[in-house]
Amino acid sequence: MSEAWTFVCATGELLPGEMKSAFDEVTGAGIVVFNHDGDLYALEDLCSHEAFELSAGEYDAGNATIECILHGAKFDIRDGRALCAPAYVPVAKFPVKVEHGGIWARDDRG
Ligand code: FES
Repeated sequence: MSEAWTFVCATGELLPGEMKSAFDEVTGAGIVVFNHDGDLYALEDLCSHEAFELSAGEYDAGNATIECILHGAKFDIRDGRALCAPAYVPVAKFPVKVEHGGIWARDDRG
């Protein structure tokens, strides 16, 4: 399991309603971090339908969802669960933290 945290951005660079992406320094997995009304959530930046980058899609801050730009699947950004077809499998949720003025996340899968 990766214990190394990946720097995503400075805290001031991710305002409510915005998202930022990065690549895990150990596993190389794409990570997308959302600022939802001041709460931070991190998901794998990969649609569970056909493995497209979620961060290319639209983050709907009002509904806490992201819509995949490729075929329109939606996911809850707070837990990664799929909300509509054509995706049925959740997206992996990753830990995220604020430290030393930055936002950090990591791929914690084994
Ligand atoms: S790849 Fe995301 S909905 Fe198809």
